[in-house]
Amino acid sequence: MCGIVGYIGPKDAVPILLDGLQRLEYRGYDSAGLAVISKNKLALRRSEGKLHNLIRLVRQAPLPAGVGLGHTRWATHGRPNEDNAHPHTNNKKTLAVVHNGIVENDRVLHLELEAQGFRFQSDTDTEVFAHLIDKYYQGKTPLETAVRRAVSRVKGTFALGVVSRREPGKLVAARRGSPLILGLGQKEYLLASDIPALLPYTREVLFMRDNEMAVLTLKGVKLLNSAGKLVSRKSAHITWDAIQAEKGGYKHFMLKEIYEQPRVVEDTLRGRVQGLGGEVVLGEAEMPEAFLKQVQRVFIVACGTSWHAGLVGKFLLEKLAAIPTEVDFASEFRYRTPLVDKHSLVVLISQSGETADTLAALREARRLKARTLTICNVVGSTMTREAQETLYTHAGPEIGVASTKAFTAQLTALHLLALYLGRRRRVLTAAFAAAHMDRLRQVPRLIEDILKMDGRIEAIAAQVFKNRDFLYLGRGINYPIALEGALKLKEISYIHAEGYPAGEMKHGPIALIDGRMPVVAIANNSSVLEKILNNIEEVKSRNGSVLALATRGNRELRRRADWLIEIPVAEESLSPMITVIPLQLLAYHVAVLRGADVDQPRNLAKSVTVE
Ligand code: G6P
Repeated sequence: MCGIVGYIGPKDAVPILLDGLQRLEYRGYDSAGLAVISKNKLALRRSEGKLHNLIRLVRQAPLPAGVGLGHTRWATHGRPNEDNAHPHTNNKKTLAVVHNGIVENDRVLHLELEAQGFRFQSDTDTEVFAHLIDKYYQGKTPLETAVRRAVSRVKGTFALGVVSRREPGKLVAARRGSPLILGLGQKEYLLASDIPALLPYTREVLFMRDNEMAVLTLKGVKLLNSAGKLVSRKSAHITWDAIQAEKGGYKHFMLKEIYEQPRVVEDTLRGRVQGLGGEVVLGEAEMPEAFLKQVQRVFIVACGTSWHAGLVGKFLLEKLAAIPTEVDFASEFRYRTPLVDKHSLVVLISQSGETADTLAALREARRLKARTLTICNVVGSTMTREAQETLYTHAGPEIGVASTKAFTAQLTALHLLALYLGRRRRVLTAAFAAAHMDRLRQVPRLIEDILKMDGRIEAIAAQVFKNRDFLYLGRGINYPIALEGALKLKEISYIHAEGYPAGEMKHGPIALIDGRMPVVAIANNSSVLEKILNNIEEVKSRNGSVLALATRGNRELRRRADWLIEIPVAEESLSPMITVIPLQLLAYHVAVLRGADVDQPRNLAKSVTVE
């Protein structure tokens, strides 16, 4: 949600900032802007809409080389127009600010500053930072001191970048609640909201923590605590490389990420099995024996697609580890009274590790003394630092706003967690766990098999893409996949789609069935196949059309379905990792055929770092 990038070094900042913004554009694309300090002058370029508008503007009116900041916006306060685009400046136009987060006491500060003669030029909450910093930036006060005083007045969250004409060789950053990472290059230093923007320049990074500030100069980076005292921290080395964060010949990031799934499952499994018995090891996520003996309940908490992974996780944990499991939306969990205590394991699932509601739920779980474990994809993200245990997914950078490969990686991690808990709690025999693990290792091959059917799925998409409503049905462990299939379609193609447990169809959605609403039925071989076949009959007898996902060789469905996608045989608990793939591809092709912007769907952001 909003992307920030900053550069100080011997090179021209402008192309580096634009490249960084391109890599962060998934965080918001309502407007974009740059600020450059060059020869004691502050120059700004801002434009409404996507980054290409800003790139065009900079081409027409080039900016000088210098130290700079960039921003790509996902609007929270104020319409997405040019006036509200970052960077924002003080009235004298001597300093510029970029911000990701929300100022909660915006009104109070706004009125106070206005009464003191500061004039507001935008409807954003960010502008209070520019005026507050200006107010405290008097005499010989260094910029970092003024920023420190300003942020101490602000309630809310921020990742902040500030440059000033008075101190042209300096970039100041501050963080509370929103992610900010410092890149340590060869005599050049960067700041960014997320790792992909840093990768072309360096893989040595410092993750800023809440209430810290940083001062970047040509001599290096100083990290300061809220009292302004130096903090020393070892840099972290990022193993992702810049190529992974590029499209690599695919038309869209989403398609590339769908195709990466066989590798992602393999990478998430790598190193997790020990010995001939196939014992699962969780490494940094191992839990103390005493806790494992006493754990009574698991709460899975997440948002969006990660929440769908959590719903599958409930089936796995209850089946393989025999632990009662509840699944909550993070935004609900944090505001109800969950019966969480020291015998509870709270599992936070998050691709980014920065989603505001999931992070708040993690903090609430800790306050209630639960053990917390995050299943997360981003090394060093806030959740990985605050949860007691982290089980990393190894999906690599996910750029497409609609999550695909992170989801299959999360399902893989949930299998590992369920097997681990099942064995440690002595619910599973070693032989059963080893056999399950063997089947899990086959999943990448099964996904490859489905990817070969991409052409067939595209052809089906061409027949259905003009419909305005879709119903997705699934049962049991594939009900969450019906939800995920519907979510993918609505996110990127703006078609109304609903996911439903097939058994509930008769309690409402059946009233909607007619020839204009295709029903996508997940009807793979499973313990509930007979039941779903009945549901398909009910749709057909009401003139509905059915797109069925069926296990290869199902003659009945070949006869009954209007369109059929045949998937390979897979054990029921593993089937969600298989059934989700054609649904991702279907959503992708429908969106492309409708001319939608697949990687940057309207109104969405990949990382929702505000509540
Ligand atoms: C946003 C993204 C989704 C994602 C969700 C949770 O809504 O568009 O793709 O599933 O946030 O994000 P997280 O990073 O916590 O998994």
